[in-house]
Amino acid sequence: MRLGFFGDVVGRSCREAVARHIPSLRRRLGLEFVVVNAENAAAGFGITENTAGELFAAGVDCLTLGNHAWDQKEALTYIVREERLIRPLNYPAFAAAPGRGAQLFTTDRGRRVLVINLLGRVHMDSLDDAFAAVDRELEACHLGAGADAIVVDMHAEATSEKMAMGHFCDGRASLVVGTHSHVPTADAQILPNGTAYQTDAGACADYDSVIGNQKEEPIRRFTTRISQGRFKPAEGEATLCGVFVETDEASGLARRIEPIRIGGRLSQTVPDPTMAPAG
Ligand SMILES: [Fe+2]
Ligand SMILES: [Fe+2]
Repeated sequence: MRLGFFGDVVGRSCREAVARHIPSLRRRLGLEFVVVNAENAAAGFGITENTAGELFAAGVDCLTLGNHAWDQKEALTYIVREERLIRPLNYPAFAAAPGRGAQLFTTDRGRRVLVINLLGRVHMDSLDDAFAAVDRELEACHLGAGADAIVVDMHAEATSEKMAMGHFCDGRASLVVGTHSHVPTADAQILPNGTAYQTDAGACADYDSVIGNQKEEPIRRFTTRISQGRFKPAEGEATLCGVFVETDEASGLARRIEPIRIGGRLSQTVPDPTMAPAG
């Protein structure tokens, strides 16, 4: 099965990039299932029904979230109605967080894809243990038995925590990919037991920016320590950043992972769909 995963969509120009590129990428790469992290879709802060609707209309199958999940209060009720939108799994039990942190989807071709969204605890607002939470999900739904593919979005600040999560899930998930840092890392690989991994997918954002925001306010805060306004998404053409993963039909493990960068100012790379998997 061929999957696409794209990192944090930041504001309008990035939603437009999703609408421009996802339908053609789906055709060109034969993507059966597409996941997008949408925690910054609504002007950089959270998600609304309208912004989610734009992404679904572009052909996205599942939206994941992160530390900005509830910036727009309507998300608290919208997520209850929309099963294709998932939030981090590891909220404390007493939070009674609405919606789901993991969801099993069925593709048009009848195959089952489990998507799990986690929030890291290092340099973040600390939730419950993401490792224990994902372990419960993976033990309840074995790759190759309960699901044909399993995608884990590890939304976290620390590279080490994301990498540890990759190895923790190695052999039990098709893909573990990081989000939140908004810059793609150059470490796409298949881990020793068959899980595809990249520390951060990168954002779908205008990269003439500071992690997707217009530059002036972040620079002012760094140089003066005085905030003079909100962060606003940069509005130039976005680069859509993510990964392409091909899984083995029987085991659900990865046979191939390659980065995707299309549009905007980053160096461009789109996998050749006809190429045989490496190794
Ligand atoms: Fe983000
Ligand atoms: Fe985030």
